[in-house]
Amino acid sequence: MSKKLIVVVGVTGNQGGSVARRFLAAGYRVRGLTRNISSASAAALASEGVEMVRADLDDVQSLKEAFRGANAIFSVTNYWEPFSRPDCRAEAQDMDISCREYAYDVEFLQGKNIADAAATVVDTLDENGLFASTLSHADKCSDGKFEELYHFDAKADIFPGYVNKKYPSLATKMSCIHTGYFYTSYNILPNSYFKKNPDGTFTMAFTTTPDKPVPHFDPAGDMGAFTFAVSQMPPGKAYMAAGTTCTWPEFLETWAKINGVKASYKQVSPEEMIEATEDRETGIEVAAMYSYSSDPGYDGGMNLLTAIDIQKAGIDCPLTTWGDWAKKHDWSPVLSK
Ligand SMILES: NC(=O)c1ccc[n+]([C@@H]2O[C@H](COP(=O)([O-])OP(=O)(O)OC[C@H]3O[C@@H](n4cnc5c(N)ncnc54)[C@H](OP(=O)(O)O)[C@@H]3O)[C@@H](O)[C@H]2O)c1
Repeated sequence: MSKKLIVVVGVTGNQGGSVARRFLAAGYRVRGLTRNISSASAAALASEGVEMVRADLDDVQSLKEAFRGANAIFSVTNYWEPFSRPDCRAEAQDMDISCREYAYDVEFLQGKNIADAAATVVDTLDENGLFASTLSHADKCSDGKFEELYHFDAKADIFPGYVNKKYPSLATKMSCIHTGYFYTSYNILPNSYFKKNPDGTFTMAFTTTPDKPVPHFDPAGDMGAFTFAVSQMPPGKAYMAAGTTCTWPEFLETWAKINGVKASYKQVSPEEMIEATEDRETGIEVAAMYSYSSDPGYDGGMNLLTAIDIQKAGIDCPLTTWGDWAKKHDWSPVLSK
């Protein structure tokens, strides 16, 4: 019997790379999409057995060709590239819109292109054959209180919004995978939200209330394991991928214990968070996200399935806890500053 084919969007990135490797290990044929077939990460994936194909999320025809013959598709879109690229910032300025709104438009269109292309291969897809990395719809889930949390709504407006409306038969084959806050955001460099104080202690400062648990996740290590587990579930469901769900003070306490330092969490106002952020537009977007995480919650108060539900169904779903991840990673960039 010939091997099943999964086509992986964003294969050179955190989530897509993890998915590609897990499905390769499970015996799938993996086709990975990239804009730059000759990058070092594309070459590394090719040497591991991924069939690398050039495709651009801005070009729906390239996606239609790349998806041909797929039994499964993994979809991910990256809000932060059009948000931060200097040429996109300049174009947003010319259009007289914020870079946040500009990035919403790009991410929405790229998601729509993925959905439109996936619809052309709906017949070859497995019963559970479209795995979409997404987030909750902040505007809808907050009854309009967070109407400009663009990097949430750009994803949710397509997966599942547009797919449900435009392609009911594709929707029946789709699983939506929400991802928690990435562990990988904290060990890169100190920033205005997580930093060393002059007295050697550390402070983490977000707008989230200290008593609200939020989901946390290892995208590069665990998106593959989670997606592979989801592929064995019935289709049409929505999940939260999280290795640890805890409050920010608990998250910080785990980190401080591992590193033998003292640290405290401080809830700040959105204005304070925006003020403390070097790039004001980033401040506005992330302050809204951390506030939304208080009420209704990062998941929008949706009833999402978790790794525990998957395990209850008898399917293995091993995820890395924050503590285990933090123990294994180098914190010197943060500790030394
Ligand atoms: N940070 C967090 O805590 C967090 C939490 C939940 C969700 N998220 C979401 O995660 C997403 C990013 O996921 P990630 O970290 O896996 O991404 P990533 O590591 O930054 O990789 C982005 C991938 O997208 C591909 N890509 C980007 N634009 C493309 C285009 N026009 N055509 C084809 N491929 C394109 C890139 O491929 P090439 O460059 O090779 O073409 C790359 O493989 C963001 O949308 C963010 O909102 C983040």
